Amino acid sequence: MRKTIIAGNWKMFKTVAEARELAKSLVDGVKADLGGSALPDIVVCPTFICLPEVLTTVKGSPIAVGAQNMDYRDSGAFTGEIAPPMLTAVGVSYVIIGHSERRQFFGETNHTVNLKVKAALKHGLTPIVCVGEALGEREENLTDSVIKHQISSGLVDITEEEAAKLVVAYEPIWAIGTGKNCEAAEANRVCKHIRDAINELYTHKDKKESSRVADMIPVLYGGSVKPSTIDEQMEQSDIDGALVGGASLKAEEFLPIIKGGAKRQKISASRA
Ligand code: PGA
Repeated sequence: MRKTIIAGNWKMFKTVAEARELAKSLVDGVKADLGGSALPDIVVCPTFICLPEVLTTVKGSPIAVGAQNMDYRDSGAFTGEIAPPMLTAVGVSYVIIGHSERRQFFGETNHTVNLKVKAALKHGLTPIVCVGEALGEREENLTDSVIKHQISSGLVDITEEEAAKLVVAYEPIWAIGTGKNCEAAEANRVCKHIRDAINELYTHKDKKESSRVADMIPVLYGGSVKPSTIDEQMEQSDIDGALVGGASLKAEEFLPIIKGGAKRQKISASRA
């Protein structure tokens, strides 16, 4: 049985006071509306400066906290960066790696993604590794090959045992923040492609008959997820949750998305 994960990426939004308020509304909302349900794993990813306050606010609730990025080194003269042990020291448990906005605006490459995935695993952080194609790549029918390359280069020198701890998010760049949702069936096809690519990678690496490591890895969909889209997305065979940007900034939008994840979690728990 794969875990269902609903993660909110707050990007560069919310002051500390606003982040506290949102986290509090989520804690209260989950307790009030979803207290008796099989919950998905819920993660919120505020800015670095808000992490301690949000961690304090969600303490004792089912909500976990992630960072949106990190450096891959443990410490050093790297002005402006945050190291993995600083995150674990305050209680952060997830980290988003290779978000398309980091790739597009901050020089993140498949190589730095690989270094960061290794650093996250070394420090016991769960990496949410983002992959996805640009519109032009989709139009040229390059989606599958671009993603396969992002996966194989992002996972260089990562053992099968380590790979079992990953979370992957399929985020088509053209669907992020645009209101253009990737159709659920197509998102499902690509999530399955990601799973197959990981299985193939480890089958090949270890020269085994066939690796099934990715059958247990949660693959999330991200890109304009809304309360109105979540149910169809959560009905798909290979979409194990959502990475949500805009709609995670308001409790009244994120809570129904969490509810959508809870439905999937309930179904997969009953199948297990
Ligand atoms: P969006 O962002 O939901 O606002 O499209 C998703 C993401 O960037 O993770």
